[in-house]
Amino acid sequence: MKVTLSVIKADIGGWVGHCSMHPDLMTEGESCMAKAKKSGLLIDYHVTRCGDDLQFIMTHKKGIDNSKIHEMAWNAFQSCTAVAKKLKLHGAGQDLLSDAFSGNVKGQGPGVAEMELNEREAEPVIIFMADKTASGAWNLPLYEMFCDPFNTIGLVISANMHAGFKFEVHDVKESRRIMFNCPEEIYDMLVFIGAPSRYTVKSVYSRETGEIASTSSTQKLSLIAGRYVGKDDPVCIVRAQGIFPAVGEVLEPFARPHIVEGWMRGSHNGPLTPVSVKGCNPTRFDGPPRVIAAGFQLAEGRLVGPVDMFDDVAFNNARQMAMDMADMLRRHGPFEPHRLPLDEMEYTTMPQVMKKLAKRFEKL
Ligand code: F6R
Ligand code: MG
Ligand code: MG
Repeated sequence: MKVTLSVIKADIGGWVGHCSMHPDLMTEGESCMAKAKKSGLLIDYHVTRCGDDLQFIMTHKKGIDNSKIHEMAWNAFQSCTAVAKKLKLHGAGQDLLSDAFSGNVKGQGPGVAEMELNEREAEPVIIFMADKTASGAWNLPLYEMFCDPFNTIGLVISANMHAGFKFEVHDVKESRRIMFNCPEEIYDMLVFIGAPSRYTVKSVYSRETGEIASTSSTQKLSLIAGRYVGKDDPVCIVRAQGIFPAVGEVLEPFARPHIVEGWMRGSHNGPLTPVSVKGCNPTRFDGPPRVIAAGFQLAEGRLVGPVDMFDDVAFNNARQMAMDMADMLRRHGPFEPHRLPLDEMEYTTMPQVMKKLAKRFEKL
């Protein structure tokens, strides 16, 4: 059976500051999704949150980029924004960049990851959601899942993964894309995806069957808005088992935290910390960046789950490692490499300070 899995998310108000989500917003989101399911538009849904981001996980039969699905999600975010405004939550409605829906939420602020798939006999999917980071945060873990035998032993010893995977990489600044066949083109690909603020992995496909294995949100909020409004806080869908990496191979990259951009004012590097959904309240220095993982089995489009995949003792060391990395980075205060390079900072006083001091610079 063909089914579409859509994850659409937005920060429409934080509680308290930018660290968590008020339960009333989730209740309102639930009630909007329940109506859409009752009307027949959705097969199923799950409403969750990652830090201050509201996440709508939805299944339906309408394909990707469907204006009815996007409009319903947009209207749901609007209803939740009304609740956020009443509670005077922080940044109420901040990711909804325009007043009216214009056919597709992609260019309007919310983050979107969608795939249409032929549901297999058993269809395990993992949905990763991050807070306090940017859309390139998945580059390193996706590389490890689908290209690195030290992470994914299936690439070596499973006959149906041995052919490798194809990567679709987006240049988010020039709005163009390129495909790479892995493993033979990994050195070329790493030249690009090793620079995640510019090049992001959009989707991955099995070379055995051509089927989609993963897709993520690549919208860059600051480029859409032309100014700093908040972080991208991206999402990523990964299919598991069979011709795809096993669930444990999909989760394994997060057992060794890596450093991503987006901490404090979108202008600092920090460790991407794997946490449970209820443990996802980025408080210290507005962070550090977080990732949660919701696992489902699909059953005729029904979302059987979630299992809170990082709510496990096996990720305790990763959390401790991430806190040690956070201490190491915080020790640098306003210095790089904790602070981002000048041209990548979201929040900066540089133009004003430079203007004020321009006359005091002397030629050497
Ligand atoms: C939000 C974030 C926070 C804010 C900071 C300032 O995703 O990363 O660190 O940038 O709390 O927020 P405002 O400008 O809303 O006062
Ligand atoms: Mg926020
Ligand atoms: Mg957020």
